[in-house]
Amino acid sequence: MPAERRLIFQHIDEVGYTNDIDCYLRYGGYQTLKKAVAQSPEDLREEVKKSGLRGRGGAGFPCGVKWSLVDRKSGKPIYLIVNADESEPGTFKDRYIIHQDPHQLIEGIMISCFANGVKQAYIYIRGEFPKGAQILERAIAEARAKNFVGANILGSDYSCEIYVHRGAGAYICGEETGLIESLEGKRANPRIKPPYFPAVLGLYQCPTIVNNVETMCQVRHVIDMGGEAFSKTGTPGNTGTRIFCVSGQVKRPGYYEFECGKITMGELLYDVCGGPLDGRQFKAVIPGGSSAKVLRFGERFKGKRKLGADMVDYDWGVEDVPMDFDSLAAIGSMGGSGGVIVMDDSVSMVEALANINAFYSHESCGQCTPCREGSLWMKKISSRMVHGAARAEDAALLKSVADQIPGRTICAFGEGCSWPTQSFLIKFKDEFETYYEAKQSRAPEALQLV
Ligand code: NAI
Ligand code: SF4
Repeated sequence: MPAERRLIFQHIDEVGYTNDIDCYLRYGGYQTLKKAVAQSPEDLREEVKKSGLRGRGGAGFPCGVKWSLVDRKSGKPIYLIVNADESEPGTFKDRYIIHQDPHQLIEGIMISCFANGVKQAYIYIRGEFPKGAQILERAIAEARAKNFVGANILGSDYSCEIYVHRGAGAYICGEETGLIESLEGKRANPRIKPPYFPAVLGLYQCPTIVNNVETMCQVRHVIDMGGEAFSKTGTPGNTGTRIFCVSGQVKRPGYYEFECGKITMGELLYDVCGGPLDGRQFKAVIPGGSSAKVLRFGERFKGKRKLGADMVDYDWGVEDVPMDFDSLAAIGSMGGSGGVIVMDDSVSMVEALANINAFYSHESCGQCTPCREGSLWMKKISSRMVHGAARAEDAALLKSVADQIPGRTICAFGEGCSWPTQSFLIKFKDEFETYYEAKQSRAPEALQLV
C-alpha cells in the first residue's frame, strides 16, 4: 500500500495545530506568498501551467489553462471567486480545510490573485457552513492585520481584498455561472456557456476566474515546490495529490490524501479504510460524488487509456482502478469532487437511487424542461417503487426518462442528475427487476427520503 502524501493536510489534525494565524506563521505560513510577490505574475502563471494542476471541484479542468483563457485585454477588472459551495453529496473536504486551515486557503488565494492581477476576490461559501464563514472572516481580519491581505501587501504596490459571501442553501449555487448570478444578487440560474465562459464574461460581465477551495490550496504548493517538481508528483496528466472523502459502509471512513493515481480503489477501501463492515461485502462504489456513475464490485473493464504521452492497455476489476481523473473516466465514471461513497450488500440499490433522485429533483433550478421535468419524474418513479407501488414497466421508464436529459440542458446538472439513474439501471438491472417482482417495499417512514 502506498504511504499517504500530505500536501494540503500536511499539518491538519496534527496535535497542537490550530487555525489561527500565529500557529500558521509558526509552521512557515505565508512564506510562499512572500516568495510569490517577489516574482512576476507571468512567471507564476507559467509555474501553475507547468505543474499540470487540474481543478479539484469536480471537472478536473487544468488550472493553468483556465488562467490563460482570462481576457486580460478588456480593460475591465479581473475577479477571482473561490467556490466553497461544496454541496455534492459525499464531498466534505473543502469544509474541513476551511475549518482546520483557513490561512492555507487565504495564502493560496492571495498568490492566485497576485498572479492574475486580481484586486477583489470572493469566497462564496455554502449557506449551511455558518461556522466556516465565521472562521474565514476572522482569518481574513488576522491576515489583513499582518499585511497579507488589503492595501500594499507586504510593502509592495499590490493591493487586494477578499470578501466572504454566504450562499442560501441551493446546490445549483455551486455551478459557476449560477454562483456568479447569486453573487450579483439574483436567482442562481446558470448561464449558457459556451460561447462565453466566466474567463471572458463572468462577474458583472468582467473576466472572472472561478476555482475550488482545494485548487487554491494546491496553488500554494505549486509555487512552494515549483511547477516542475509538482508535475512529478502523482502520475502524468494527473499531478499532485488528491483528497478522498470516503463515506458509507467501510470500517474507517474519513479524509485521506494520496498522490493522484498512485493508489488503487482496492488499496484505498481495503487497506486504508479497513474494508467492509464485519460480515458484509462491498457491493457498489460511487467514486466522485453522487453525480458520478456507480461502479459494481465484480465487474471488469478492459481497454486502452492515455497515460501521459502513451496509450496503455488495462484490464481492471473495480479494486484495480487507479484513483485519478483519467483512469476513472476510462472506465466510464469520474474522479469528480473526490467523494467516494461506498455501499455494501445490505444496501438496496433501488432505495439508494430513490434517495439520490429525490435530492436532484429538489435542487434543479427549473430553467430547462428536460432537467426540471425529467428529475421530477425520475424522483416520482423511483419513489413509487420503494413505496410499494412499483409497476412492471418502471425500470425501463426510468431509464428512458434519464436518457432524454443529457446534452439538452443549459448546465452540467442535466448530466449529473441523469447519470445515477442510467448507471444504477445498467449495473444493477437484476436488482431493479427483482425489486419489482418481490415487491420488497418497506413502510415509507422507514426510508429516509429527502
Ligand atoms: P465544465 O467542464 O463545464 O467546466 C470546468 C471549468 O473549465 C469551468 O470553470 C469552465 O468555465 C472552464 N472551461 C471549460 N471550457 C472552457 C473554455 N473553452 N474557455 C474557458 N473556460 C473553460 O464543468 P463544470 O460545470 O464547471 O463542473 C462540473 C463538475 O462539477 C462535475 O463534474 C461535478 O463533479 C462537479 N460538482 C462538484 C460539486 C462540489 O460540491 N464540489 C457540486 C456539483 C458538481
Ligand atoms: Fe437549471 Fe437543470 Fe437547466 Fe442546469 S440543467 S440550468 S439546473 S434546469
